Amino acid sequence: MKAINTALIGYGHLGRFHAQKIVALDLSNLVAIVEPSKAGQQTAKDAHPNVLIVNSIDELPANVEAAIVVTPTSFHFDLCKKLIEKNIHIFCEKPVTDKLEDSLTLQSLMKDKKLVFQVGHSERCHEAWEQKGLMSPYLGAGAHLRLDRYAAFKGRATDVDVVNDLMIHDLDLLRYLLGQDPVNVSATGFKQRTNKWDHVVAHFTFTNGCVADITVGRGHVHEVRSLEGSSEHGVLRVDLMNSQIQIAHKEASEIKVINYTKRDHLLMEQENFYRSINEGSTPMVTLEDGVKAVKLIDAVLRSLETKNVVNL
Ligand SMILES: NC(=O)c1ccc[n+]([C@@H]2O[C@H](COP(=O)([O-])OP(=O)(O)OC[C@H]3O[C@@H](n4cnc5c(N)ncnc54)[C@H](O)[C@@H]3O)[C@@H](O)[C@H]2O)c1
Repeated sequence: MKAINTALIGYGHLGRFHAQKIVALDLSNLVAIVEPSKAGQQTAKDAHPNVLIVNSIDELPANVEAAIVVTPTSFHFDLCKKLIEKNIHIFCEKPVTDKLEDSLTLQSLMKDKKLVFQVGHSERCHEAWEQKGLMSPYLGAGAHLRLDRYAAFKGRATDVDVVNDLMIHDLDLLRYLLGQDPVNVSATGFKQRTNKWDHVVAHFTFTNGCVADITVGRGHVHEVRSLEGSSEHGVLRVDLMNSQIQIAHKEASEIKVINYTKRDHLLMEQENFYRSINEGSTPMVTLEDGVKAVKLIDAVLRSLETKNVVNL
């Protein structure tokens, strides 16, 4: 399979890990890094001395075939728009844009293009979701889901609220695991550390009788990333931080504990991206998935602002 000439856009916290994966995979060559900050450029140069480092995507060399966009979310739209115009395949970190109308614009710009556009909803990479037989009794029609994602305040991603920063992971997981979109949402929250929503609780209902509550916070006293599903069969909990499944089946005398393998999500996502380019196949997370997740963000934010139930 052909190695794809790839540019890394944004050499910050996550960008440096993405750069390592581009180098590690046989399916990709790291040909350029775009980073506007002088400090970021120096760190990039130290780690990748033989790679071209430029200030802006306008300076990308003509041999670039694909780009990984890892800038703050508020820059994603302008960068992706330019990359589409340059006919460059895109892997954009989540969320694809911070405004619904911008993600819809990207979708229309992509319409007649033969380009791969993958979105970085990395939580889909947990091995746990492949154990469908284990999961389905607790996540099927009528189930109650509870997703919690708390982080200590790190001062990162403050260009967006906690819904765009953290809840986006759970919104995509809900769609992915239930195979459908919710019909309405009501949300409430607080602005604590920034002038944007920092702690949010959102309640969703689905046509198949499922209900889901997502709580996210970015100024917490402890770190939690988990999903629980309750049904007439019992309760299942997936600890996404520690790669562990716990099941309290209604007929079992003990809680069943299953540890699953922690995988390299960025490597898996990038590998899938380059394969999709080479094979012309659909990527693991499409732009359409990314847009639908942004649509859910938009609904949660409207509910927060209006204090009303928002129908989808
Ligand atoms: N999938 C995940 O689990 C996950 C985890 C963390 C972050 N993210 C996403 O990754 C993105 C980046 O997050 P981060 O924490 O690395 O941010 P960061 O602020 O640490 O890094 C962003 C980098 O982009 C650079 N930059 C800004 N504007 C640019 C431009 N126009 N062109 C090129 N570079 C530019 C900045 O100088 C900075 O070095 C965000 O969208 C975030 O939501 C995803």
